[in-house]
Amino acid sequence: MPFDSPAPRASFNDEDSNRSANPHFDAIVQQRLSRRTLLRGAAAGAAVGGLALGGCATTGASDGMHSPLTTLGFTPVAKSLADTVQVPQGYRAQVLYALGDPILPGAAAFRNDGTDTDFDKRAGDHHDGMEWFGLDAAGKPSERFASRGLIAMNHEATTDEKLTSFFLHADGGAASLPRKAAEVDKELMIHGLSVIEVQAGSGGWSYRKDSAFNRRITTMTPAEIHGPARGSAHLVTRYSPDGTRTRGTLNNCGTGKTPWATYVSGEENWFGYFHRDAKDDERRGKKDASVVALERYGRKAGAASRHGWESAGAQDMYARWNNSATGASAQGDYRNEMNGFGYIVEIDPYDGSKALRKRTALGRMGHENATFARPVAGQPVVAYMGDDSRGEYIYKFVSAARWDPRDAHATDRLAVGDKYLDQGTLYVAKFKEDGSGEWLELSMRNPIVAANPDFEFKSDADIAIFTRLAADAVGATRMDRPEWGGVNPKNGEVYFTLTNNSNRSLDGAMAADAANPRVYTDMNGSKKNNGNVNGHIIRMAEGQAHAMAFRWDIYLFASEAGADKGAINLSNLDDSNDLSSPDGLVFSPSTGICWIQTDDGAYTDVTNCMLMAAIPGQVGDGGKKTLAYKRADGSEKRVDTHAGKAQSSVTFKRFLVGPRGAEITGWCESPDGRAMFINIQHPGENTKMADIANPAKYESQWPANAGYGAGQRPRSATIVITKVDGGRIGT
Ligand code: FEO
Ligand code: CA
Ligand code: CA
Ligand code: CA
Repeated sequence: MPFDSPAPRASFNDEDSNRSANPHFDAIVQQRLSRRTLLRGAAAGAAVGGLALGGCATTGASDGMHSPLTTLGFTPVAKSLADTVQVPQGYRAQVLYALGDPILPGAAAFRNDGTDTDFDKRAGDHHDGMEWFGLDAAGKPSERFASRGLIAMNHEATTDEKLTSFFLHADGGAASLPRKAAEVDKELMIHGLSVIEVQAGSGGWSYRKDSAFNRRITTMTPAEIHGPARGSAHLVTRYSPDGTRTRGTLNNCGTGKTPWATYVSGEENWFGYFHRDAKDDERRGKKDASVVALERYGRKAGAASRHGWESAGAQDMYARWNNSATGASAQGDYRNEMNGFGYIVEIDPYDGSKALRKRTALGRMGHENATFARPVAGQPVVAYMGDDSRGEYIYKFVSAARWDPRDAHATDRLAVGDKYLDQGTLYVAKFKEDGSGEWLELSMRNPIVAANPDFEFKSDADIAIFTRLAADAVGATRMDRPEWGGVNPKNGEVYFTLTNNSNRSLDGAMAADAANPRVYTDMNGSKKNNGNVNGHIIRMAEGQAHAMAFRWDIYLFASEAGADKGAINLSNLDDSNDLSSPDGLVFSPSTGICWIQTDDGAYTDVTNCMLMAAIPGQVGDGGKKTLAYKRADGSEKRVDTHAGKAQSSVTFKRFLVGPRGAEITGWCESPDGRAMFINIQHPGENTKMADIANPAKYESQWPANAGYGAGQRPRSATIVITKVDGGRIGT
């Protein structure tokens, strides 16, 4: 098989700073694990064995689910390079809420020509994960009412080139430092979250411009630090001398809905927004623990920031993006500002009066989403999370408090969040070659010795803030960019997309292993991609969500239909269901369909990004597979893996293809399953800033070309999909 060592890539969405030499399976330094953890793992392993005999897990069976589907009732959509949203026959897609749409008093209609301001009162950019929160006719929270609700969503980032978010500025903006304050002010406000009220009427769905529930959270919104990191010296800044507060949330990617009806959002590629000057290591001391941590989180001394916000003026709102130790002490500067980002944040979408809460017990990483196991009365609350960078890990949080079903209907929802999300234990996944796996505890009960002697874990706050270093130390399995996780309501199994990994190789630090077995080369037009080019989806069966062990297999190997079926297209995909770079993944609570979304840069010579629908089986429905590789010197390497059963075009189909340059992301539905909301992120992102005055050269003009809104500049947007006959989506 052809193989070249991967070329380094510089992309803010493709971070790569895991230099740990973590072994993959057997050579783990077991003495670092407490005897207790090992014993608990062994006991849970027995439970998993029992599960295998029983044939199905016990955590599943969503209360709200209609009868689970066995086939998908639509004709698949063909791959496409058109600048449109394509859905199956019998469905309609309508644009609902696009970048710049006004949602708060004082914002005028969006002109979409780069002259708009007041982005704190408008839709943010790069719509990403989202969740539905129902309202009844009286405007009270409702889990059943299907024609009125709130949608909370993430605004991850913005389409940029050479510092500037060019579609936001009339002339594209200044592409050099220092940035202009008037440009930065807009860019600071298009990041964060939205809450909007939506309703179904005779003309379809719309958002209510005048709803009192409408809300924007930006990079400047007050935020409280909760959990073990609260008050840590590592969080002390000029803004928060006692380390209990920060401002805003940043690069919010995936989401989750808690069992108590709040919204959680993952801060993903936040590190790229911070500047560190070239002398910062010397001032801190080269062996200072903070230098070790900054490098592990992707910020070397001399690192330039993505937008240069720190250069726009001396005011605090700009200065805070300079993460260098410039003052006499941490109280006088923003050397610790980055440590306030990288968390799961929680808001109450029904109550805009409370600050957002950063739930540090769930660890600090490039968070995608947090997906919750179905809560069981008297058992801990469990959430699963991925850290999306090359070679990073999959995590699980197990609450200290036991679930009380009455909390599902509490009115002080953030107080319930305090109860379940501020105390608990974080675990990181280790996938073993034999198809079993283990959750490794990250806490001071289980002494954690960092690989780098210059970094010492002294408290649970240190583990919460420097989670990646702790996971390195216990020997977690380095994965191919863990993106969203989802829990199958039918059987409680946990799915994670592993979107791709250009650094996966045959040998070396990220050598192919059972859980990340593919290494190959594929062309995208004239561009050569290496490693795990198209990504895969791994799944775990635990028996009980708080178990310490699991069985796993690979549900899906994403691939081009025409690729080698013995080495690449291992799931037997055809033209109706081939895909690349799975990213978003959500199980519908109403139908059990697993919706899979792509954010791809490998198959884009053939098709735009897409939304797939799947009815998966269960862990173990396939079998063992051995991949045989030839090294350049002629020697052979064999990798054993565990594959789910081959895909069928009956239970795995392409449902939607998006416009040019866009990723498909974000998923929620009305509780009756008859309206599905999807986000179209960054259409036209490959447009050149030099072409800003020439719309004909834009890569995309969506959604204006679909009849939505003014101007021709492409806009990220939420769409709503309904069936023409009013039926449930996908059936
Ligand atoms: Fe925001 Fe990892 O995608
Ligand atoms: Ca190709
Ligand atoms: Ca993602
Ligand atoms: Ca993405």
